Amino acid sequence: MERPAWAPRSIDVTVPSVSRMYDYYLGGSHNFEVDRQAARRAMEFMPGLPKIMQANRAFMRRAVRFAAAEGITQFLDIGSGIPTFGNVHEVAQEADPDARVMYVDHDPVAVAHSQAVLEGNDGADILAADLRKPWEILNSPEVSRLIDLNRPVALLLVAILHFVEDTDNPYAAVTELREALAPGSMLVLTHASYDGVPLPPERAGGAVDVYQNIRNPLIMRTRDEIARFFEGYDMVEPGLVPMPQWRPDTAPEDEDPYAFSGFAGVGRTA
Ligand SMILES: C[S@@+](CC[C@H](N)C(=O)[O-])C[C@H]1O[C@@H](n2cnc3c(N)ncnc32)[C@H](O)[C@@H]1O
Repeated sequence: MERPAWAPRSIDVTVPSVSRMYDYYLGGSHNFEVDRQAARRAMEFMPGLPKIMQANRAFMRRAVRFAAAEGITQFLDIGSGIPTFGNVHEVAQEADPDARVMYVDHDPVAVAHSQAVLEGNDGADILAADLRKPWEILNSPEVSRLIDLNRPVALLLVAILHFVEDTDNPYAAVTELREALAPGSMLVLTHASYDGVPLPPERAGGAVDVYQNIRNPLIMRTRDEIARFFEGYDMVEPGLVPMPQWRPDTAPEDEDPYAFSGFAGVGRTA
């Protein structure tokens, strides 16, 4: 198979990756035929998957704008993905040109493409690291250079925690990150759930099986399980809600029913 210039040598282009599948759902061009095939298989069960992804991105941008309006100037975005339209650094630096954005992802294509997009941007950087090892993120020279942990940070865990299995202790990782952040920091989070999916769970489960088959399980948690990630944070209004309902810019009446799958929320530490 031909390897385009943007594909790092280290990656196996015959195995689908969740970040490249996500890029495909969003209409991006950093994906291979294996990714498109897997994404199309998932869409046979859940045709509205791209709508879920668009609602997720739209929430993320509103939440970053909200955090910036509340005076946050530092963003730590873990599981940031392959850059696409309306990235966190663009939204944050539009609100405040001096805003700092540290991206983190363990996917080599996401890292390589972020490096290319961020070239020449002194206020934003990408670190190749794993959410399951928060200490490596917190103690990295890249984070120390860009982020002052003595001042509030918006921690973004957007569409990532549903890729972390319970055996990998996602709650402990989120707690460890919270404990390292200064008071007044925020957690911006979205998470997949069967709640709100406009399909019977057996059918939606077909899409989940596709992720299982590519050995990147998608963990569908309940609303209560997702709410537990906010332990130690006070929920910002309107709380943990379907993505289009979190401080919408426009009336959400014409939203696709798929956009109401899963949950989004923002919390703040006292
Ligand atoms: C669905 S994408 C979300 C991208 C972006 N946050 C957004 O919402 O638009 C999930 C990203 O999380 C990354 N990811 C999954 N598990 C991770 C882990 N344990 N550590 C770091 N990144 C991870 C994947 O590589 C992928 O780029």
